[in-house]
Amino acid sequence: MSVTERACEAVLEHLVPREQEEEARRSWSALKAVQLDEIAVSDLYQLGIGAFSPLDGFVSQEDYHSIVETMRLASGHIWSIPVTLPVSEDVARTLRLDEPVALVRPDGVVCGRMTIRHMYRPDRDHEAEQVYRTKDVEHPGVRRLYERGGVYLGGPVEVLSDERVDEFTPYAYTPRQTRAAFHERGWRTIVGFQTRNPVHRAHEYIQKVALEVVDGLFLNPLVGPTKADDVPADVRLRAYQAILEHYYPRNRVFFGVYKAAMRYAGPREAVMHALVRRNFGCTHFIVGRDHAGVGNYYGTFDAQRIFDQFDVADLGITPLFFDNAFYCRKCQGMATAKTCPHSDDDHVTLSGTKVRQMLREGIAPPPEFSRPEVVLVLMEYYSKQA
Ligand code: ADX
Repeated sequence: MSVTERACEAVLEHLVPREQEEEARRSWSALKAVQLDEIAVSDLYQLGIGAFSPLDGFVSQEDYHSIVETMRLASGHIWSIPVTLPVSEDVARTLRLDEPVALVRPDGVVCGRMTIRHMYRPDRDHEAEQVYRTKDVEHPGVRRLYERGGVYLGGPVEVLSDERVDEFTPYAYTPRQTRAAFHERGWRTIVGFQTRNPVHRAHEYIQKVALEVVDGLFLNPLVGPTKADDVPADVRLRAYQAILEHYYPRNRVFFGVYKAAMRYAGPREAVMHALVRRNFGCTHFIVGRDHAGVGNYYGTFDAQRIFDQFDVADLGITPLFFDNAFYCRKCQGMATAKTCPHSDDDHVTLSGTKVRQMLREGIAPPPEFSRPEVVLVLMEYYSKQA
């Protein structure tokens, strides 16, 4: 059996059973506490539900080096971004190896327990260059990397449920639950869609082109920590709800949130996004233009090219690549350069910055770019920001 077959065979959860949570929280409160930031809280939760399988906790020094250098764990499994638990030097001095600690949210709630098996000082310049392809602190992922502590803790975790994830009910699922749901629907091929931006026509187009050839679409917007000027998750979810009932076939779409932090690591994050959706039970994964990119740090299709380095059998999921999609006035429909012979002048394209500016000024983006139902939700949000 290949390493990927082993990884896919069973997604390993590290959740405390609900009926034992109260007791766990009570007894763990007596342990030494390690404070997590919101990124670590969301990583911990994904580790708990098995979305980061085969990781069973924050990564060891050996896995850290292996991921940074080779995009694989020491075991050989593909994993492209190290999932780390950084603490400050001051905190590290108070901790001992092999010590069980309570993992505590910024608001003081105990959310897990970890046995500290590894404590190491990363070379963060090297991590930035390898993972983000830049050391520029203007890059939101790189800035966070440097802002977080300089000592990493590693070790297996046990995780408690998070009522802030439960708030997303009925759209909060564990990989075990999505796999069961896909099975129940009789879907054999499922395409996963990652997104952190308000849905627009190009998103809808690539989702539907993929849906022409697979059984089901797993719409999986990221709702964990994002950068300040990204549109908040609740607004993005309202936008999706506004169009799902009007434009999508109900029985072929499964909508669920992904409460993880955005890294903005472009190519490496595209690989991680694909692996996570494999864990949720997808067989295919959409990678469009500048996936998980920010600013001009990555080439438009770098996040597609990175997949050349891996066998699909090893990934356990097939990436589906899409060219830049737009509305063409001459074609009178959505298209890409692969299907449309007309010139740029006939294409309706708007940058994210331009759209945000229009919305802030109370100008509705055209229906060729965004469904009117979505525009209504966004304009309401932006009018309150003024
Ligand atoms: S991302 O950070 O989650 O990648 P976004 O929500 O904008 O950002 O994109 C979701 C997915 O749609 C990504 O795979 C992205 O590459 C793809 N995408 C976004 N806009 C376009 C477009 N105009 N043409 C083709 N693919 C696109």
